[in-house]
Amino acid sequence: MERRKIVAGNWKMHKTLEEGLALVTEIKGIVKSECSGKTGVILCPPFIHLSAVSRLLDGSGIELGAQNCAKYQEGAYTGETSAAMLHSTGAKYVILGHSERRQYFSEDAAELRVKIDIAQENGLTPIFCCGETIEQRNAGNHYHIIEAQIMGSLSGMADSAMQNLVIAYEPVWAIGTGVTATPEQANEVHIFIRNLLAQKWNPEIAAQVSILYGGSVKPDNAANIFAYPDIDGGLIGGAALKARDFAEIIKAMDKIQG
Ligand code: PGA
Repeated sequence: MERRKIVAGNWKMHKTLEEGLALVTEIKGIVKSECSGKTGVILCPPFIHLSAVSRLLDGSGIELGAQNCAKYQEGAYTGETSAAMLHSTGAKYVILGHSERRQYFSEDAAELRVKIDIAQENGLTPIFCCGETIEQRNAGNHYHIIEAQIMGSLSGMADSAMQNLVIAYEPVWAIGTGVTATPEQANEVHIFIRNLLAQKWNPEIAAQVSILYGGSVKPDNAANIFAYPDIDGGLIGGAALKARDFAEIIKAMDKIQG
């Protein structure tokens, strides 16, 4: 099984409904006329826009993802959104463990594992994020931190569940800062993660899991980052809010696939 190359847009808490639909319309148009279709394209708008975006994406080949899900199946949890609800809108993916969720909503490894399991049980593929802070990197601790995040949430997962998972390496110091990891820095960590998967699961799983890079990916640096074969695409924040920028990043990945 060939692993997929993916460019996913994480809108975070941006865009009103009207703005969001205008953005989707524009992205859809450019993807249709300029992209090869080789790269998997995923849009992750806020929960409230999922249904409307899903309808607009129908037939476009662009897939839909959410940015989080509840850690409960259903019940009296005011304000929460379940994995089953997300799936019912047409979402196929859910971002879990983003550093902003870890930092501002105190999500830890154990809670993330619960969410990963619930997401998969309800037909969603988790895009599981990991990454170190600048202090951790400067202290030379980044490999240790990334291994702890991955094993803390994925340990013991069946091979079949691992095949239904995407990993995103997002160094916290590169998110929304305009400071990108160098392609070499990103590649080193991607190789480390793939080796970890080979060691803790097996080489087939390691070869099958798509590992995306996230953190200030822009049209002008995407090609250099994606040039490394262990970097299977990107999780894009700021640049996913501009149709032209997002499309150029998709095109950079299309081009690498020839
Ligand atoms: P950024 O965000 O591209 O704006 O750095 C990436 C992310 O947080 O997923």
